[in-house]
Amino acid sequence: MSERYARSIADLERSKKSLAGGVSSNVRLGDKPFPLFFERGTGSHLWDVDGNEYIDYVLGRGPLLLGHTPPEVIQATCDQMWRGQIYAAQHELEFELSERVSRIVPCADLVRFGISGSEAVHGALRLARAATGRQTVLKFEGQYHGWLDNILYSLSPDPNRAGDALHPAALAESAGQFSGTESHVVVLPWNNIPVLEEYLAQHGTTIAAIITEPVMCNTAVIPPLPGYLEALRDLCTQYGIVLIFDEVITGFRLSLAGAQGRFNVKPDLTIFGKAIANGMPISCLAGREQYMGLIAAGKVGHGGTYNSLPPAVAGAIATLDMLERDGAAVYATMERTGGRLMDGIKQRAAKLGIPVVVQGYGPIFYMGFPTTEVAADQAVYDYRSSLAMDQELYTHFVSAMVDRGVRIIPRGNWFLSSTHSDADIDQTLDAVEAVLAETIAPKLHEKVTA
Ligand SMILES: Cc1ncc(COP(=O)(O)O)c(C=O)c1O
Repeated sequence: MSERYARSIADLERSKKSLAGGVSSNVRLGDKPFPLFFERGTGSHLWDVDGNEYIDYVLGRGPLLLGHTPPEVIQATCDQMWRGQIYAAQHELEFELSERVSRIVPCADLVRFGISGSEAVHGALRLARAATGRQTVLKFEGQYHGWLDNILYSLSPDPNRAGDALHPAALAESAGQFSGTESHVVVLPWNNIPVLEEYLAQHGTTIAAIITEPVMCNTAVIPPLPGYLEALRDLCTQYGIVLIFDEVITGFRLSLAGAQGRFNVKPDLTIFGKAIANGMPISCLAGREQYMGLIAAGKVGHGGTYNSLPPAVAGAIATLDMLERDGAAVYATMERTGGRLMDGIKQRAAKLGIPVVVQGYGPIFYMGFPTTEVAADQAVYDYRSSLAMDQELYTHFVSAMVDRGVRIIPRGNWFLSSTHSDADIDQTLDAVEAVLAETIAPKLHEKVTA
């Protein structure tokens, strides 16, 4: 291994001396086999500093729906760069983009742009508190809404500390989170309407917002059970709670209009990031006029030096041009290639007698190895049921796949782009089969005989 990654190993050692941990985001600390260094990407392919080539299913952890460096997006961004990087003022691309988002996204009466998903979430929560006069926010165990203090709770909590699966404690994910915020965060299991109904019957009028990923992408890409999102919508309306769909991953990925378009459920506020600009830094807070009007009126604070950065806005417009082209044909492409990959993984695993869970959608899906016998269909439906997956075994799988030139995320998510070809899928499936046979089967055998 050291020969294959010699330069990355040396780079990491050097980097650690000046850059905390050698990485710029803690998520990357967990990369397998270790945080590698990359040098260029085109379409579905990426090259590291040692010259190794990868088929990339990480895709910037979601943004690169059109693959690496799509010429149209790069051109539009560069053209704008030469006209000006930042004006600290309005520009016409800005309303071109907000009009576009309003047309595409059902709930987006009004829109504001920022840089990161985390800050857009922050804005949505602040709006909900201002609009309702209530303090408490309800989120779901296993979901992620950015790294800021007031919402970084219970992404991957230790179940022994979190307690009762139906009434879990809100556990901070990081040392140093502002103490006291946990008293204003309620955590419940996802995909469970009876528990939510029971909670709201007692406390509904104290809840400012329910925030949810409409598909639980940050844990096992769990689809909503039929009727779940509709029931959330109804309960929020009943109790005067602001419903926030965090579409940082699902937005412009599950359909042109995100998960809300795909499932036809309209939240009050919504957040986009990642795929909206294919890798340029821009996020979007959008929603009903009743709420966003508070920002328009200057009553609720929202700011940022880099908001609506002209090159990023230009990149977003070029991205949406490509996404909307030919009746949004890219989505059918990703459903087909991603579907082929999902089916292929299941088939290759079945051939070798290795139990595997593959769930989600063509543009984003999850793969994991179950520790116990679980039904293949909807095996993982919330955070606690996801704990039945063998994370250690999957880590071995990821490292071996990377060694074979297929880059995947250690938590089990696979992102597709419109540039992944049938040849990419065939090559990936051959790597999957080889790794299952050579790495996973022997480890399973060890476990059985231990
Ligand atoms: C669902 C969700 N919300 C919010 C965020 C935070 O976005 P950002 O990393 O741009 O701050 C993420 C990041 O992965 C996310 O997956």
